[in-house]
Amino acid sequence: MTRLFRPNVVCMAGYVPGEQPRGGGFIKLNTNENPYPPSPKVLSAIVEAVTDRLRLYPDPMTTAFREAAASLHGIDPSMILAGNGSDDVLTIITRAFVGPGDPAAYATPSYLLYKTLIQLQDGRAVVVPYSADWTLDLSALKVPGLRLVYIANPDSPSGTAMTRNRIVEILQAVDCPVLVDEAYGDFADPGCHSIPLLKDHPNLMVSRTFSKGYSLAGIRLGYLAASSEIIDQLVKVKDSYNCDALSQAAGVAALGDQPYLAETRSKVIATRTRLALALRALGYEVPESHSNFVWATAGPPAREVFARLKERRILVRLMSYPGYPEGLRVSIGTDEEIDHFLETLREII
Ligand SMILES: Cc1ncc(COP(=O)(O)O)c(C=O)c1O
Repeated sequence: MTRLFRPNVVCMAGYVPGEQPRGGGFIKLNTNENPYPPSPKVLSAIVEAVTDRLRLYPDPMTTAFREAAASLHGIDPSMILAGNGSDDVLTIITRAFVGPGDPAAYATPSYLLYKTLIQLQDGRAVVVPYSADWTLDLSALKVPGLRLVYIANPDSPSGTAMTRNRIVEILQAVDCPVLVDEAYGDFADPGCHSIPLLKDHPNLMVSRTFSKGYSLAGIRLGYLAASSEIIDQLVKVKDSYNCDALSQAAGVAALGDQPYLAETRSKVIATRTRLALALRALGYEVPESHSNFVWATAGPPAREVFARLKERRILVRLMSYPGYPEGLRVSIGTDEEIDHFLETLREII
């Protein structure tokens, strides 16, 4: 049967998402979900949207959502495209820009899905290693015929962020679209955000998600901000109804409750600072994180610690990247969860 598949699909490994255990009782610090609940306003909006209108298809262009997102960022609604999670946005972009044999670049270590998406298109992955200071060597992006660059800012697993000036240098160094994936942007200094660059850089696209800062990984909603010329083309590639009615309602309500976002964000950041210090004190190297997780390497053997933590029902993410020691990516939980994690980690070590 495999002979009937496209060879690139048969050869690729496929993306493996972080474990979602079936049974309860785990402290889940492995997939960068937010430990705090969604805004109560979001929960009410979802309940209000559960009416007999669910028999109708949702708004294919997510009009109310686009208006809300555009107003938050001070841009035109025609510059917003919503997706079924930001992964959907990444898929739409890759399908639109990368064809068989086309080179597309991403930094490493970073989000592994970029490679998977390029492989699905039978494109050619150009892997650009981060420099020691967590910036990119621009000369590595000088690839003839380059079609697309993906940059997670802040990055995962490192948690590090490039300044807006660095992003400008990348936009100027290449002759192709650059996707800045700001899935973790809600936890970063707004000075790193790239949406303000859209007016001067037509090759920029910025993706955002509701899964992290807005505590809504379960509803699957993300969006892209880019020039209306880019969005008009991408609309042709997306599924007709790629965002359901409940997620559209949730998204509008979430964007409308910025004080709630600010409150949960500041709790996550305070816990992040404390966790990074504690891990460094235990001998780990932890880059300065601008996200809702930290990456701990070079300490006690990661694989063994990961397994022992799991035995004690604490899930973190074991991450292996060529050229880097195996490390543990630990999502920021509540203070109680992180206290329990640290206590257990100290016992294991
Ligand atoms: C860097 C990065 N981008 C995008 C995503 C996808 O997020 P979602 O599809 O939930 O919006 C993730 C998920 O963990 C991520 O780490």
